[in-house]
Amino acid sequence: MTEKMRIVLLVEPSAAPREELAGRLRKEIDCVVHAVGSPGEAVEILAEGAVCVLIIGRDLPLYKSLPLHQFVLCHHSQVLVLPVVPLGDQEEMVQVLRAGAFSYINAPYNFTEAVIVTARALYFYDLLIHQEKRGAKVRKSEGFYGIIGKSPQMEEIFDLIDKLANDISTVLIQGESGTGKELVARALHAHSHRRLKNFVPINCAAIPEDLLESELFGYRKGAFTGALLTKIGHIQYADGGTLFLDEIGDMQPNLQAKLLRVIQDRTFVPVGGLEPVPVDVRIIAATHCDLEAEVAAGRFREDLYYRLSVIPLTLPPLRERQGDIPLLLDKFVQIFNRNRTARLQGFTPEALTSLRTYLWPGNVRELENLVQRLVVLYGGRTIGVSELPAKYAPSRPALASPLDFTLTDVHIGPDGIDFDAVIHELEDKLILKALQLTSGNKKDAARLLHLNRTTLLEKIKKKGLNLK
Ligand SMILES: Nc1ncnc2c1ncn2[C@@H]1O[C@H](COP(=O)(O)OP(=O)(O)OP(=O)(O)O)[C@@H](O)[C@H]1O
Ligand SMILES: [Mg+2]
Repeated sequence: MTEKMRIVLLVEPSAAPREELAGRLRKEIDCVVHAVGSPGEAVEILAEGAVCVLIIGRDLPLYKSLPLHQFVLCHHSQVLVLPVVPLGDQEEMVQVLRAGAFSYINAPYNFTEAVIVTARALYFYDLLIHQEKRGAKVRKSEGFYGIIGKSPQMEEIFDLIDKLANDISTVLIQGESGTGKELVARALHAHSHRRLKNFVPINCAAIPEDLLESELFGYRKGAFTGALLTKIGHIQYADGGTLFLDEIGDMQPNLQAKLLRVIQDRTFVPVGGLEPVPVDVRIIAATHCDLEAEVAAGRFREDLYYRLSVIPLTLPPLRERQGDIPLLLDKFVQIFNRNRTARLQGFTPEALTSLRTYLWPGNVRELENLVQRLVVLYGGRTIGVSELPAKYAPSRPALASPLDFTLTDVHIGPDGIDFDAVIHELEDKLILKALQLTSGNKKDAARLLHLNRTTLLEKIKKKGLNLK
């Protein structure tokens, strides 16, 4: 079977109309038809995941048609369902359409009509697939909710976000610092039906332990000295939306127990409150530490860890997806170039190679900061290896160090030396030497010393150096 072959599944307990309809569909539409007599067989074929259109006949044994229909909508939502309804039965017709059917086929069968309706459903299915593919292409080139990347690892992350967005299960996002954990948490929220409600981030590491509880759960008036009013906590503020618990590895054990309760019972008790308050909140947690190791070391509750990591999502470090580096550089140059007259022109191939092979311990955040700095410093130019800060350009020949001398002229006696004065003097000497080598040309001298020309001029002025 080719990949493009479209599959129609027909569940019809009566053999004669089943065979007739299946035959007509095979003959008149470009598709594969599986014709079965019972819902059990249909469920097995559906499980293979390739069915496009499902026709549900009447008087099914065991299952009635509506429960099968509902089962398909829940578990195979991409399948377009065509239930068979008695001709003229308005009530049932409305019922199946309300239940989410794409359309319906009349009983007793008018085979020509049945073929036309099925062909339409397949046409619609093709359009949907086409649109999805187009969406995926756009997604690759423009970034997914601002997440840039087209490496296979990032494609996997995009697919996971797509799949997980509307699920209630807790997601644990792991990854080194700067890999985009918060960005992914926001994308999960924005891509879900919760997007109209709040996305509430809270950094467990940044809030002092004794405040975190009341920040999270809120408090009742009089719960403690100073609690003059009832205050809503982050969890309640996120009701209907998403609570993002950043740096969850830093949460203290007593709060870990309370959080477990929120996840298990979907209720919480405000500080000073007695009654549990129900809450519909999707929890996303993130950490840059190895939570499993924290569990092993007894610092993080094992039960909470398992609850949180129902769906783990691990972001790859940048060095493991080098192919994304040029794309990220490009996008950030575009972003930081906005509204500037002196725009950065890009990178030479040598500079790109250096940046691709750099290990990026700070991941995307480090890359973003570097581009921002380069745009400010070198607007209007193309970045070559010599414009990159030394650590990004190991291939750059090491600068000759004039400090290869022995410090024979500097005598450190029992009373020590005036460190600052010696350094100043050394600076003076270096500047004068460079100027001597360049016959007083300050621009060239600055280049020799790898200083900005203005920095050199300021130093000369400040030091009152006599250049004659
Ligand atoms: N794939 C990406 N595409 C575009 N920008 C990204 C990407 N990943 C990260 N960034 C940017 O890098 C910066 C850091 O991202 P974020 O705060 O999501 O990282 P993090 O994993 O939460 O880091 P930390 O562990 O330090 O909190 C942000 O400015 C974010 O916009
Ligand atoms: Mg973060």
